[in-house]
Amino acid sequence: MIKLLTVVGARPQIIKAAALSRAIKNNFQDSIKEMVLHTGQHYDPNMSQVFFDELEIPMPDFNLNVGSASHGVQTARMIEGIEKTLLDNSPDFLVLYGDTNSTLAGAIAASKIHVPIIHIEAGLRSFNKSMPEEINRIMCDHASTLLFSPTETGVNNLISEGFKINTDPPFSPDNPAVFHCGDVMYDNSLFFAEKASKYSKILTQHRLIPGSYILGTLHRDHNTDDPARLGAIFESVNRISVGYDTEVILPLHPRTSKMLKTNLSDTLLKKTENNRLVKITGPVSFLDMIQLEKNAKLILTDSGGVQKESYFFRKPCIILRPQTEWIEIVKNGTAIIANADKNKILEAYEYFNAKKDLSFPPVFGDGKAGKFICQEIIENSIQNR
Ligand code: UD1
Ligand code: UDP
Repeated sequence: MIKLLTVVGARPQIIKAAALSRAIKNNFQDSIKEMVLHTGQHYDPNMSQVFFDELEIPMPDFNLNVGSASHGVQTARMIEGIEKTLLDNSPDFLVLYGDTNSTLAGAIAASKIHVPIIHIEAGLRSFNKSMPEEINRIMCDHASTLLFSPTETGVNNLISEGFKINTDPPFSPDNPAVFHCGDVMYDNSLFFAEKASKYSKILTQHRLIPGSYILGTLHRDHNTDDPARLGAIFESVNRISVGYDTEVILPLHPRTSKMLKTNLSDTLLKKTENNRLVKITGPVSFLDMIQLEKNAKLILTDSGGVQKESYFFRKPCIILRPQTEWIEIVKNGTAIIANADKNKILEAYEYFNAKKDLSFPPVFGDGKAGKFICQEIIENSIQNR
C-alpha cells in the first residue's frame, strides 16, 4: 500500500485535490491510501468547508489552523506543522498542488527530511518573480521527485530550467521524473458540470439570464492592494455594465471585499454600490461557480483557475493581469491579457462582444488526469523500491 500525505490550504487546492481523491476512491483503494493535511490558510466556511461538503471529499486528517499572517509567519507555521505530521506518519510521498504558501511550506518541510514530493501543476511560469506564487512554484518544482504538468508549455518550461524527460528510475529530487498529465481541474469541471446544472440555484437567486451577464473574480494582491489598479478595474466594470446595459456578477474573495473599503475612492465605491447592474457577493460554492461560468457571456478575472474554467466552458476571458501561466488560451485567441488597463479592458470587451466564432481546441487533457497521476505514482513507487 502506498501512503500519500496530501497538503491543501487555499480554496483552489481543495478543489484540485478532489480529482485525485476521487480517482483513488474509485480505482485505487487497494493500492493507495491518502491522508489529507489542511494548513488552514483559508478558513472561512465559504473558502474551505463548503468544498469538503460539496465535492464529496473526506475531511482532513490533520488541520494546522494557521490562518492569515504575513508570508513569512504563515509559511513558517505551516512548515513546523507539516514536518511534525510527516515525522509522525511516515508517508511514502507528500502531494502538493499549485503555488500557494501551503505548497511552499510542504516543499521545504518534506525536502529537508527526505520525503519525496509529488507536485501537481508543475512547470507553470508567469516569468514574473514579483508574484509570490512564481517563487513558490519554482521552489516546489526544484525540490520535487515526480512532477505532473497539466500542459505542454509547463513541460517545456521545466526542460528550459534543466529538467530532463524520459529519465530512468530510481527517481529522486536529483533525478526527477516529469509527466504531461492534463489538468485535474478539467477532470473536476467535467465531473461536476451536470451536478451544477441540477443543484445550483445561483442564477435564479441573482435573477441572471443565461448568456447575458459577465462573471468577474478578483483577488491577486497586485490588484487588490494597489488603489490605482483596483480603481481602474472597477471603473471598467462600471463603464462596461452601463455602456452595454449588461449585468456583472462579482463573487469576491474576502481579501478583495476588505480592500474595496480602503482602496477604492469614496466616489467609485458609491458609484459601484449604486450601480444596479453590478452584483457583488461573497465567495460562492464550486457548483455555483461553475454554473455561473457555464452560463456567462464573458469572464473577467485575475484567477488562474477561473481563466482555465472559462476555456473549459468555452467562454471568452479578459485576464486582469500583466501575464498568464495559461498562455495556450491567449494563443488560441479566446483570452486577452488586459492587465488593469481601462482602455485594454474595454477594447477586449468590444472585441469579444463582436466576435462570435471562437474555437477552443483541447489543450488540458482528456478529463482523466487524476487517474493518470495515480497510475504513475503506483508504477514509479514500485520501480523506486
Ligand atoms: C492565496 C494564494 C493565491 C491563490 C489564492 C486562492 C499565496 C501566496 N497566495 O491568496 O495564490 O490564488 O489563495 O484563493 O498563497 N482571508 C479571509 N478568509 C479566509 C482566507 C483569507 O478573510 O478564509 C483574507 C485575510 O484577510 C487574508 C487575505 O484574505 O489576509 C489573504 O489570504 P491569503 O491566504 O494570505 O492569500 P490569498 O490572497 O487568499
Ligand atoms: N471558485 C469558487 N468560488 C468562488 C470563486 C472561485 O468555487 O467564489 C473556484 C473556481 O471555480 C476555481 C477556483 O476556485 O476552481 C479558483 O480559485 P482562486 O480563484 O481562488 O485561485 P487561483 O486559481 O487564482 O489560484
